[in-house]
Amino acid sequence: MTRRPLIAGNWKLHKPLGEAVSFTQELKSALSPEEVVVDVVVGPTYPVLHAVSQAAEGSVIQVAAQNVNPNESGAFTGEVSSAMLKEVGCSYVIIGHSERRQIFGETDAFIEEKLQAVLNAGLLPILCLGETLEEREAGQTTARVGDQLSAALANVSAEQAANVTVAYEPIWAIGTGRTASPEQAQEVHAHLRSQLAERFGDVANDMRILYGGSVKPTNIEELIQQPDIDGALIGGASLKVDSFTTIIQTAQRVFQQS
Ligand code: PGA
Repeated sequence: MTRRPLIAGNWKLHKPLGEAVSFTQELKSALSPEEVVVDVVVGPTYPVLHAVSQAAEGSVIQVAAQNVNPNESGAFTGEVSSAMLKEVGCSYVIIGHSERRQIFGETDAFIEEKLQAVLNAGLLPILCLGETLEEREAGQTTARVGDQLSAALANVSAEQAANVTVAYEPIWAIGTGRTASPEQAQEVHAHLRSQLAERFGDVANDMRILYGGSVKPTNIEELIQQPDIDGALIGGASLKVDSFTTIIQTAQRVFQQS
């Protein structure tokens, strides 16, 4: 594997200020910068982003926001812009998570706008996509994720594409304890990469495609051994320093052996 793996934690609506900072400090001491060869990202809630970025200073830990508004400023009550996220120390922004699509009604068109705004601000988007159980059972998985991918990347140039990370997260595997098998995940990842190659040529070989959905210390190894799985987006197992660190170390070992 030539792509440097990315292990990202999505904290969702968890970890108030004190807990978020102490987690970051503990993770920082568990990961020595000289030894870590994978990218490590944590995704806290908006109000604690700044404090977590400060706690992560001098470490390998980078910070992601879980959402963004595509506008730069204006009458958008409750929203936050890319520039504001950058200012408080974010490097990445998670976009189009299935919880945002399903609970908050985000459309492909809105996600496309967000992705473009994030890239224009010099931040790195993690674009989430995935199928429902009904879509998988109806044989629509590749069509569904393919449509989500083309819609979100509609206006992205090959040069910009190099900064995009894709996260394949089957909805039926999120928070359910039910993971896609490594073969099921690889099949979708390979499909996504071939679609990226059609669109962006060789740049597709440098783009990272993460898997997400009940990733744990016990299944990361077989997932990350797949040729097109370049890391993971992790919810539940990213909330404990021990399990998150084990996942990072396992990904790192597999990467170094490859
Ligand atoms: P999970 O969540 O690891 O708890 O399944 C993944 C995600 O929602 O990104």
